Amino acid sequence: MTDPRPSLPLDAAFDPGEVANTVSAWRKEGLSVGLVPTMGALHAGHIALVTQALSLCDRVVASVFVNPAQFAPGEDFSAYPRTLESDAQKLAAAGCHLVYAPTGAAMYPDGFASTVSLKGPAEELESAARPHFFAGVATVVTKLLNQVRPDAAVFGEKDYQQLLVIRRLVADLDLGVRIVAGETVREPGGLALSSRNAYLSADDRRRASKLNVILTDFAEALRSGAAVQSAQATAQSEAEAAFDSVDYIDARNAETLAALPQGSLHQPGRVLAAVRVGKTRLIDNRAV
Ligand code: PAJ
Repeated sequence: MTDPRPSLPLDAAFDPGEVANTVSAWRKEGLSVGLVPTMGALHAGHIALVTQALSLCDRVVASVFVNPAQFAPGEDFSAYPRTLESDAQKLAAAGCHLVYAPTGAAMYPDGFASTVSLKGPAEELESAARPHFFAGVATVVTKLLNQVRPDAAVFGEKDYQQLLVIRRLVADLDLGVRIVAGETVREPGGLALSSRNAYLSADDRRRASKLNVILTDFAEALRSGAAVQSAQATAQSEAEAAFDSVDYIDARNAETLAALPQGSLHQPGRVLAAVRVGKTRLIDNRAV
């Protein structure tokens, strides 16, 4: 069992009371506060969000919590990498001020019974394969925002549907925090960095990097005026040839994720996909 209070190279909080104390001390000094929620196994994409938060706020909290509520039975909750000490080293090197790593019991005490219910951008796409996913995400993000009460919170465009779900949540429930989007950080070959890339073999990784190519071509076809349905059909067959299975590859309205009308695109669009390479599920997206 891991020590619940490891000694870490930056200040750490392990329950809601501790994080609230630290943040209220900062508030008394008139400092602004940014939050970067994560599930740990940090890579350069997460660290870019921390750097962005540091450019906007005087103090930055990164949360590290593998949220059981967003994993379905049979998903990788137990296998999900837990690397708090190396995460803390990366956060300290980036200049992050506090790591907030609550325990499961602190977040979901006995008797916990409330969740956030969503429609709109939470419908379809990720929700088709993972119907409880966004309720789990929205519930933990609401808790983290209420515990930390930051001025701004930074989320990656890598999880584009998640970003829109959180923007909608914050607006609808008056959570009073500025949601800032961070660009997707990619490997030189274009593969979006992801904690789940750790599951990929060298061969899987080569195949995985095709996802970005297919999405970039899909976006480019739409930009040059191709009809949505024919560009989608091309992307679909390329993805089926490249991957073990395709959950979805689709073009949607960039702000609402509503389906697009027939014909060429006359509104801001976003192409999004989820595919499987071996047992690893990959998601990515591109602006049109
Ligand atoms: P996690 O997958 O750890 O991602 C944390 C944040 O990092 C998210 O905002 C995600 O979009 C962003 N991110 C991941 N890969 C990125 C990349 N290559 N470039 C830029 N940003 C990237 O998303 C979650 O955790 C959870 O659902 C969470 C919001 C923490 C709720 O549990």
